[in-house]
Amino acid sequence: METIQGIRGMPDVLPENTKAWQYFEQCWSRVVHAYGYEEIRLPLVESTHLFKRSIGEVTDIVEKEMFSFETNDGESLSLRPEGTAGCVRAGIEHHLLYHQVRRLWYSGPMFRYERPQKGRYRQFSQVGIEAFGLDGPDIDVEQITLTHRLWKLLRLQSAVTLQINSLGSPESRARYRETLVDYFSKQEKFLDEDSKRRLKTNPLRILDSKNPALQELILGAPKSHDYLDSESQAHFEAFQQGLSDQQIAFELNPQLVRGLDYYNRTVYEWCTDKLGAQGAVCAGGRYDGLVGQLGGSPTPGVGFALGVERVLLLQEALGGREQASLDCYVLHLGDKASSAAWRFSERLRDASSNLSVVVHCGGGSFKQQFKKADKSGAKVALIFGEEEVNANKVGIKFLREQRDQAVMAEVDAIAFLTDYIRGKINESN
Ligand code: HAM
Repeated sequence: METIQGIRGMPDVLPENTKAWQYFEQCWSRVVHAYGYEEIRLPLVESTHLFKRSIGEVTDIVEKEMFSFETNDGESLSLRPEGTAGCVRAGIEHHLLYHQVRRLWYSGPMFRYERPQKGRYRQFSQVGIEAFGLDGPDIDVEQITLTHRLWKLLRLQSAVTLQINSLGSPESRARYRETLVDYFSKQEKFLDEDSKRRLKTNPLRILDSKNPALQELILGAPKSHDYLDSESQAHFEAFQQGLSDQQIAFELNPQLVRGLDYYNRTVYEWCTDKLGAQGAVCAGGRYDGLVGQLGGSPTPGVGFALGVERVLLLQEALGGREQASLDCYVLHLGDKASSAAWRFSERLRDASSNLSVVVHCGGGSFKQQFKKADKSGAKVALIFGEEEVNANKVGIKFLREQRDQAVMAEVDAIAFLTDYIRGKINESN
């Protein structure tokens, strides 16, 4: 019988890879917590209309990449291609944004019907943040500082560079649009079919084209920062000053327009040259008009989303992924030692909810159990033999470093292990 395969571009994450995902998720939770962001959980499916109105009718995402379907009663729904639109929709619907400052984060699968290749999937995972009610450049800087901290935790800071641009106000963007139409119309014979179409519908998108034959033309195009209104100019300068104050390096990229229509003023991407064409690992910017455009009272917004698969691929390309590894593997021999081992492990888990502890199951000699302990990746093996149990003690063998085996009273062992493991976590950061 023919076996049924998974869907193209919607990869499984197998147990050997989930540790790296968990480690990433732990780091993410730490940074969003550190900056006071609150989690919001959003549905995977929204009205198609929402994405058309927010991302824009004439964007690759809406034109070609949405998984849309009709319900039995004729309503068009779509799997979410990104999280900002749903977050704004939920914020308006539940009155989270009215005259309030909100810092929100979300995570989960997104869906885009793109041609699958390494780093580009039809189902992929994003983590993202959105802040509402703040229009100054300080919050833009805060969000970039947050990502910068995440790169440090993941040891990726030297593999990513920050590119920034400003798209200005809707009025300055309209002026810039006219100039671009003028420029590209004069060169129309050199444009590909996609760009000719975009010249009429959404000329800024031409700057986003990846067609190598167009790159020279694009490089020669007028630059958005020459058309900025004075307020956006001041905002952009203060933003750059804020980044410099935080000692975060950046590059100005006047071609950076982003593939979604809701942006104004600050836009940015964290890029790497280690993942070929899928070099954007994290991207975002301001969308001060979006809440109003979706029916809420005008509220500024700014945020970003990060592609988790790309970040994990980048870690792999750099020669190794951080893993959420096991802390303790507990060995025991004989009935009395076994019950002491189970009891002790529960006390250890009570003492620190951060500790991961596996008690050996299935019997076998100490030699066989040590092999399992080694293979488990645990930092230490805790040994309960007859001798230890009769003395109310625990043996501690360090599996990942040269250090003499220790024997301690149970109560001391608990204090020691919580400190030791915490120390290891701090060391690895
Ligand atoms: P985006 O640039 O479309 O922005 O996506 C953000 C990130 O998601 C990309 O930089 C990339 O890492 C990842 N990504 C996008 N498409 C794929 C794919 N097919 N396969 C794997 N990874 C992918 C947004 O989605 C905006 N909502 C970001 C934002 C939040 N702006 C303001 N707030």
